Amino acid sequence: MNKLSLLDQFHIWRRKIRWNRQYKKGRWEYLKNNVEAPRYAKILESIKQDATAQPSVLDLGCGEGVLRLRLENETIGYFLGVDFSKVSIKTATKYNFKNSDFQVADLHYYKPPQEFDVIVFNEAFYYINDNVRAKVLNRILGKLKHGGILINSIYKEGVGCWEYFDIPELEQLDFSKVTSKKESTYWKVGVYKKM
Ligand SMILES: C[S@@+](CC[C@H](N)C(=O)[O-])C[C@H]1O[C@@H](n2cnc3c(N)ncnc32)[C@H](O)[C@@H]1O
Repeated sequence: MNKLSLLDQFHIWRRKIRWNRQYKKGRWEYLKNNVEAPRYAKILESIKQDATAQPSVLDLGCGEGVLRLRLENETIGYFLGVDFSKVSIKTATKYNFKNSDFQVADLHYYKPPQEFDVIVFNEAFYYINDNVRAKVLNRILGKLKHGGILINSIYKEGVGCWEYFDIPELEQLDFSKVTSKKESTYWKVGVYKKM
């Protein structure tokens, strides 16, 4: 299947309401703490190592802008964060980051407004309905520059996600397990280059 049924759309809408409620209650504040730090560090390291200097970065499912919080101003040319939670985007916008914009949009329908050097799914890809994962990834890849870098971080094993990145358009540069100080917490981070 390649499209969303009315029921799928209803569930996505309900999940959006739930995310907004959770952000209002501060349920995701913990993403800013040290237990989560290693996965952001891995993403920053990959950007530094594999992307062009001062890249334009698109952060899909950016939440409250925690990745941007950890990026030094001088390391990026431009940053765009996108999330369907208007509550998280309001928080991200309040930081007034330099050279950065934040936008409320649902990844199921989102078409980036320009091409980027780096596109990041940071704990967001698995929220895309599996009927349309390939289609969404294909649409997003259309706005990644040739030679640009795609980074995908997924909590634990990411069953039903990684196979979408095993496509001819992408060359895998790295695939790492990133472990937090809290031993039961780990992520897998894949880094890909668009051919
Ligand atoms: C676990 S949080 C990760 C937030 C951020 N990437 C980080 O790691 O700091 C997942 C984020 O994905 C967003 N999200 C989930 N489904 C989405 C969708 N269909 N469109 C846009 N954002 C979505 C949620 O609102 C939430 O902010």
